[in-house]
Parts: sequence; structure tokens; C-alpha cells
Amino acid sequence: MDIISVSNLSKQFGDFKAVDNISFTVKKGEIFGFLGPNGAGKTTTINMLIGLMKPGTGAIKIAGYCGIRKIKKIQEIIGVVPDESNLYDDLSGYENLVFVASLYGLDKKNSHEKAISLLATFDLLEAKDRLFKAYSKGMKRKLTMAAGIIHDPEILFLDEPTTGIDVMSARKIREMIKDLNRQGTTIFLTTHYIEDAQRLCDRIGFIVAGKIVAIDRLDSLMAQPPGENIMEITSESDLAVAATKIPMIFPGMEIVQAGHKSIRIKAPFEIELLPLLEYFAVQGHKIKEARLVARTLEDVFVQITGTALSNPSNNQGGKRK
Ligand SMILES: Nc1ncnc2c1ncn2[C@@H]1O[C@H](COP(=O)(O)OP(=O)(O)OP(=O)(O)O)[C@@H](O)[C@H]1O
Ligand SMILES: [Mg+2]
Repeated sequence: MDIISVSNLSKQFGDFKAVDNISFTVKKGEIFGFLGPNGAGKTTTINMLIGLMKPGTGAIKIAGYCGIRKIKKIQEIIGVVPDESNLYDDLSGYENLVFVASLYGLDKKNSHEKAISLLATFDLLEAKDRLFKAYSKGMKRKLTMAAGIIHDPEILFLDEPTTGIDVMSARKIREMIKDLNRQGTTIFLTTHYIEDAQRLCDRIGFIVAGKIVAIDRLDSLMAQPPGENIMEITSESDLAVAATKIPMIFPGMEIVQAGHKSIRIKAPFEIELLPLLEYFAVQGHKIKEARLVARTLEDVFVQITGTALSNPSNNQGGKRK
């Protein structure tokens, strides 16, 4: 069942189309992600879905309610974790949660119990009386998430849940998202991290310059086309220049990732190693390792969009095709 359904949604700022005629659906119980580079229109889309921004044109339906006429109704059953926290700096972690709970109509006792239980879940009990402004980035993000789920929403919207926090906290947040989803919450998230998309999402929409350029199940996107092979070659020396000539010398081969000391070659046939080793040897390179690899979501993204995601957590220092 579709719990979110968006058709022909657009948003324009002046002459600039931030969201350009997008349509998609999110099924009840799934984790759906928008993956796209900075400025692609992810936050603008989320803001229209949650009623923070008026849609330009198009239709939104959430849990059977019209996203424009029934937004108040929708806001009761959704939770929102914005990219920048909406909590109060001068309240403690505990006070922030109790305050948000009261906004959703929880009574005093329930608010207290819920706040304490969420603080425990997010490992924030010890810091419960510290002011929000004194929290670290990761703690802030966790508390913002706790606040977003205090009323047990049916659908949770998360804008860039792991941006700007360390690897361990990001992992913890991904676990939390998975747990919530296992308990039945439908998740809509945006990210520019391949890793988030790959580890979390059941279905992914690639969004670039306001348009959805691909949308599919993660497993379908990742499925290796029959016959396709990808070989990763590593060396101590810089292979970038030598790599550019490979498609010319070995017809059918394509460079899908050109780092300096590591490149990836793709071909619709079995890649023979010996001729490649000879070629690199003639060019003065000694190959340290060559291995067949599975395609990554990043390969798929680059292939479909023609652009790389700037992705510090997954940056191998190479320039991408
Ligand atoms: N209120 C606004 N007025 C004018 N332009 C805007 C406004 N809000 C967003 N934009 C523009 O719309 C485009 C999409 O912005 P948006 O914040 O949706 O991108 P994003 O995909 O969330 O990017 P990021 O990954 O950096 O969060 C950007 O070019 C942005 O400058
Ligand atoms: Mg954004």
C-alpha cells in the first residue's frame, strides 16, 4: 500500500526550479531514500511533504490525506527530524523532550516516562540535565531524533540523518532508524551519503537538479547486469594517465572509477588480466593487486546521472568519471 504518493510536484524560487515535476510513491513499512548531491532539492521536497513549505504545483497524498488541505491531520501522524535541529538551546535535553511531548498532547506522567525512555535508548540519560547547546553534534542529532519520534509517528521524515557526525554516531543512528522501521514505522529520508542509502534503504530515488533520474529497489539497482565485469587495479604509482587510454586500446572496456593509485575497469565480457598487466608494465607501472569487484551504488549513481556525489565518507581521493 502506498502511504505517500506524490505526483508532478514542483517548486520554483524566482526563475529557478528547485524541484522539477517529480512523482514517486513510498510504500507502508519501507525505508525510502532520496539520494542526491547538495542542492538537488531534497530538503525542499521534504519541506513540502511535511507542510513547512507550500508546494508550487502538484499533488501530495499522505496516509490517505491530501497534503495541502489536510496537512494538520498529517502532522499528527508524522515525525520530522530536520537537517538542522529545531530544539531549544537553553533547555536541557530532558526539558526539550518533555516540551515536545506536551505539544503532542501527552500528559505530564507520560511525557516524563517517554522522555526518560528515549534518553535511555539514545544513550543520553547521563546528559539529560545538560543544556541542549552544550551537547555535541552527535548528541544533538540523537536528541532531535528522539524528539521526532516521541509521539510514535506512523511515518518518520529524516533530512540528512547522519550528516556532520562521526562514524560511530552515524552507525548508531542508522541502527535506530532500522529498529524503528522494524517496529513498523515507514521512513522517508534524504541523504547525500551512498553509505546511508546502501545500508538503510529498501528503495531509492536518485535526485539531481530537482529531477528524479532513477527510482528503484536497492537490490534491483545493485543487480549486476549479466556478463558485466568490474576489475579493480591497484598500484603504488599513479595510474590515472595510463587509464585514460584503456578504452582505446582495449575496445569495450570502460573506466568507471579513476583514482590515482586505484582504477576500476568495466567490460561486458570477461576481463583478461595478462594484456592489461603488460600494458601497464610498458607504461612503467607495477600492478600491486587486481581483483574482480561487485558494482557499488556509487557506480550505479555515476552511471545513471553522469555526476559523482561529493562524498567525504567514501572518498578515495580519486576523481570520478
Ligand atoms: N527559500 C529559497 N529561496 C531560494 N532558493 C532556494 C530556497 N530554498 C532552496 N533553494 C534552492 O533550491 C535548491 C535546492 O535546495 P535544497 O535545500 O532542497 O537542496 P538539498 O538537496 O537539500 O541540498 P543539501 O544536500 O545541501 O541539503 C538549491 O539551489 C537552493 O539554493
Ligand atoms: Mg538539504
